[in-house]
Amino acid sequence: MARHLVTSALPYINGIKHLGNLVGSMLPADVYARYMRARGHEVLFICATDEHGTPAELAAAEAGTTVAEFCARAHDTQKQIYDGFGLSFDYFGRTSSPQNAEITQHFARKLHEHGFLEERSARQVYSVADGRFLPDRYVVGTCPHCAYERARGDQCENCTRLLDPTDLVDPRSAISGTTDLEVRETAHLYFRQSALQNEIQAWIDAVAGEWPHLTVSIARKWLAEGLHDRAVTRDLDWGVPVPADVWPELAAQGKVFYVWFDAPLGYLAATKEWSDADPRRADWKSWWFDAEDVRYTEFMGKDNVPFHSVMFPAMQLGVREPWKMVDYIKSFNWLNYYGGKFSTSQHRGVFTDDALELLPADYWRYFMIANAPESDDVSFTWELFAGQVNKDLADVLGNFVNRVLTFIAKRFGDALPAGAAPGDAERELGGRLVELFERYENHLDRIELRKATAVLRAMWSLGNEYIDDKAPWTQLKTDPEAAALTLRTAANIIYLFAQISEPLIPTTARTLRQLWLAPEQDVSGICWPQASDVAALTWLDAGTRFTVPPVLFAKIPEDDVDRWRERFGAEDEIR
Ligand code: 2FM
Ligand code: ZN
Repeated sequence: MARHLVTSALPYINGIKHLGNLVGSMLPADVYARYMRARGHEVLFICATDEHGTPAELAAAEAGTTVAEFCARAHDTQKQIYDGFGLSFDYFGRTSSPQNAEITQHFARKLHEHGFLEERSARQVYSVADGRFLPDRYVVGTCPHCAYERARGDQCENCTRLLDPTDLVDPRSAISGTTDLEVRETAHLYFRQSALQNEIQAWIDAVAGEWPHLTVSIARKWLAEGLHDRAVTRDLDWGVPVPADVWPELAAQGKVFYVWFDAPLGYLAATKEWSDADPRRADWKSWWFDAEDVRYTEFMGKDNVPFHSVMFPAMQLGVREPWKMVDYIKSFNWLNYYGGKFSTSQHRGVFTDDALELLPADYWRYFMIANAPESDDVSFTWELFAGQVNKDLADVLGNFVNRVLTFIAKRFGDALPAGAAPGDAERELGGRLVELFERYENHLDRIELRKATAVLRAMWSLGNEYIDDKAPWTQLKTDPEAAALTLRTAANIIYLFAQISEPLIPTTARTLRQLWLAPEQDVSGICWPQASDVAALTWLDAGTRFTVPPVLFAKIPEDDVDRWRERFGAEDEIR
């Protein structure tokens, strides 16, 4: 059986992430990791903060602290938020770790050894007013391809094409806005991607057959344009130093690797951090080196696809060592905020810390996965959010659980009643649940998250339908045995939901698993069902004791929607 390596794109260190960042990588990766674990697979789910580069330096300067201190604090803050969202990373590392420096330098040496990394004299944008060379993303201007006016020197976020700062039309400094820019000569290391074009092409042809359309179209577009050699060093204080044994002069000049050179290696390094942290853990290399039994799935927003489908694989191929390459890249479009962009720099939209302050994680997790921007951009609105929470979580799932258990407690006490043997209605219900359950598994296997959520919701609805049809409150008057059967069956439906809802709403699912006080069974862990058990609905026997949970999901009143819309500035966002 394969082992499953799952990674999420590494969130930048320079600020609290918004919901768009979460839904574009970490959250769906978590749903998949949880699902695969629940199915009994060995899973290693790795993420880290992406800490190098100018944004970190600038954010530290703004905060009046050293970059190392800033990153340490910001890492902890982000980590705490992700814990709050229930993200089940096996390890959440840092690209500024010594492990990453070691692995990055190893890759650089090997690429050099095989002729894919070479020193060239480069022309780089120097800002006279700012008194410094400007890293790519601090030169902004008009995109030569799509005319977007705020393209960054590394990439146009409008058309996703990768750029060089010198490609930009009307360039200016993103730090000061000055247009007093010069191009000066300085030496840098170049990654000769062009020499790997054919190998990357062949690799994509071999591996990308089942990849999502979005991923493949971006990868192919980029390949079709031809791979350009890229400068992979920068003039910064903060980053992985160029190894002095190979490039003494560059090292003496203080050159460090470009953030996108060391960031993907952060997946490997965070795995090493994980393995170094506890001697009982497997050696990190068993997941990454010569790891033929590993299936590797990456999650990311569409802007990351060029790096992960081409540049990082090219680095892995170029070192001529058997590093584990990605098997499947799941990518996402944008989650927008009222049709406009979420923006970290302009603090527009809902940020992850604020979200958790308003409502528990499961409300957000459910909504975001139900609306994951898989095939298109999707707009977050408070109205849509409240509508779906109130209907799906409060009315459909929450209400089902509460009314069933409250009713049993009232009429039968705190243990499930026995009642009659299952009849036609139960067999029909079982059949319909199995059909949906198999579809649900299928969608999760294929990481089709919106479809999976829709099917899960349909299963929740079936619970309500069953109870409404059987009407145990009426049955009780004429046929208490029939009523007891209905209620015991309904309790088993709750048990089913407690297992299968776990990837999406883990906290609630856990609450639902902890309701049952079966004397000889510990039922708080996940026990992913077999289809035949779904058909039978008889996990919980008569006599199983239970507790009635407090209301699982509170409805969001209109007042809150109005307040939040105002607080998070929805009105003036429509662009
Ligand atoms: O786009 C981003 O936010 C980057 N920090 C993603 C890096 S992913 C990986 F390769 F490290
Ligand atoms: Zn563009």
